[in-house]
Amino acid sequence: MSVRPAESITRARSVERLVTGQATSDGAGVKLTRVLTQPLQRRLDPFLMLDAFGSDRADDYIAGFPDHPHRGFETVTYMIAGRMRHRDSAGHEGLLENGGVQWMTAGRGVIHSEIPQQEEGLMEGFQLWLNLPARDKLCAPWYRDFTADELPRFVTEEGVEVTVIAGESHGVVGAVTRESTAPLYLDLQLPAGASFTQALPAGHNAFVYVYRGELTLGDTPVPPKRMAILANDADSDGVRMVAGADTRALLIAGRPLNEPIAQYGPFVMNTEQEIYQAVADYRAGTLAV
Ligand code: CO
Repeated sequence: MSVRPAESITRARSVERLVTGQATSDGAGVKLTRVLTQPLQRRLDPFLMLDAFGSDRADDYIAGFPDHPHRGFETVTYMIAGRMRHRDSAGHEGLLENGGVQWMTAGRGVIHSEIPQQEEGLMEGFQLWLNLPARDKLCAPWYRDFTADELPRFVTEEGVEVTVIAGESHGVVGAVTRESTAPLYLDLQLPAGASFTQALPAGHNAFVYVYRGELTLGDTPVPPKRMAILANDADSDGVRMVAGADTRALLIAGRPLNEPIAQYGPFVMNTEQEIYQAVADYRAGTLAV
């Protein structure tokens, strides 16, 4: 793994607020924590949802997510531990496991299933929903699986291990880049006491989700299982964090689309009329052809 010197920034963003996720279930009864909920979609534009799942009780995940549709955005599934099989209407099939990422652009429409391939043991990971600009909402579906080995990684001089799922960090380009929303998606493993700095454009919305350990961002301690929404301070050019313990966290940022958001379940469009159309197409069997 290449060692990279720290990115230098002049002023770090402050924390605007801490968010505790909401326990919920989705699919055929998978227990999960919705960290980024619908009321935060405008604030965290272009991100629409972040779900965290993590359980070693098979009952919490075994039913999986049988066939369901999506239109108008992208889903990014990051599997920390466990095995899940994906199949979709475009003929794609893949096994997502330990440390792998599945990036799916639903575009004009995909019907897919996500089914656990284990009957016991830990299943842990995240699903992030990234919006598409209006002009791309009906684009052709796209899909790619990345195994853990295929994801770009580096380590900082302070020993922070960084997986670059999307965007660019310390000169390392991630597995996926997107022009319109310029998403940055980093998984950080910080040893206790280590600090990490990342340059961020001031106008991009950004948040950190601590899933193990604890961090201090500016003056704000961030306990485990909390999302810290970073303020868009006009004179700040990045984020700086210090780990209070061995810590794992996601750092996610992107350029807001500033377009209307109309969501009905798995369809995210710009207007109600487009939502009606998505529902009609799904009922008519023409959503994903
Ligand atoms: Co889905």
